[in-house]
Amino acid sequence: MLEQIKQLMAEVQAFAVSTEEELEEYRRKFTNKKAVINQMFTDFRELPGEIKRDVGKPLNELKQMAQTRLDEFQQSLKGSQAVANRPNDLSLPGDPGLPGARHPLSIVLNKIVSVFEGLGYTVAEGPEIEDDFHNFTALNFEDNHPARDMQDTFFVRRDPDFLLRTHTSSVQVRVMQENQPPIRVLAPGRVYRNEAISARAHCFFHQVEGLVIDEGVSFADMRQALQYFANAMFGEQAKIRLRPSYFPFTEISAEMDVWWGLETEDDYRMTKGTGWVEIMGCGMVDPNVLRNCGIDPDRYSGFAFGMGVERISQLLYRVPDLRLYSQNDLRFLRQFEKIDA
Ligand code: DAH
Repeated sequence: MLEQIKQLMAEVQAFAVSTEEELEEYRRKFTNKKAVINQMFTDFRELPGEIKRDVGKPLNELKQMAQTRLDEFQQSLKGSQAVANRPNDLSLPGDPGLPGARHPLSIVLNKIVSVFEGLGYTVAEGPEIEDDFHNFTALNFEDNHPARDMQDTFFVRRDPDFLLRTHTSSVQVRVMQENQPPIRVLAPGRVYRNEAISARAHCFFHQVEGLVIDEGVSFADMRQALQYFANAMFGEQAKIRLRPSYFPFTEISAEMDVWWGLETEDDYRMTKGTGWVEIMGCGMVDPNVLRNCGIDPDRYSGFAFGMGVERISQLLYRVPDLRLYSQNDLRFLRQFEKIDA
């Protein structure tokens, strides 16, 4: 019987199947109830004990092998049928692949821009490598202001100083130098600060600056514009408050908070227990700044504001870590595929 087993193993190995008929023949020969292998199991029972020991294992292996081959044949027949059945229609559309999606910061930035465009603002741009005048001096920063320190600012060159702009307020200066009022611009862009990177701070981020200069522009006009913006961004129920603050280039200065709520533990954490979150700095443009930029402060007044895009995106989409914005992790980015703005 051992001889026969070896013989059958060789036959099973050598058998090839490419049609249903051949598969059927294989079954008949090797795996059906009546096939020879099953027959051998019946004979096996009659064998004397010491022979059983020698034959049992190879016989089982043969059966196993025949079954494995059968599975393989069935698989490959199924596969080749699928290929054969596939319609050979060359006009079918191709595999579309992944279309890509907007970055969350672009979505938020576009939204901010479109809100203010609705109020008649146009978009202005300025360079990311700035000189000291546009980033600091024209904006009324004193010579010994801490922002002028290496610790806060990336300098590209010293004496004369060139640096990576620390805020988009530098674009205000460029716009006022080149235009006379009425001025109504929005300046979105990337800014840089010498900060250690963490969940809450990054060495680069994005701001949107706003500037309005005309005759008789008041603090009330600013509040009205910012309330409109908050409603457009956060919904009709959005509440804002202005807190007194200080910036060298505005007088009077304020920080604007939006009401976030204080219901969950998350709200407590986000708002440091106040229910309010700060989203921008703002104020009436300091007369010194107007003068530095060639605009007559006795005739014109205006307001300015600057907000962080990452912060607003964080509020809208609950992004817990600033680093996510620049890591390009598709698991993060794909979550924004369905949001169009
Ligand atoms: N430039 C300020 C900053 O980066 C933000 C800011 C505050 C801009 C007040 C303004 C403003 O235009 O009026 O922190």
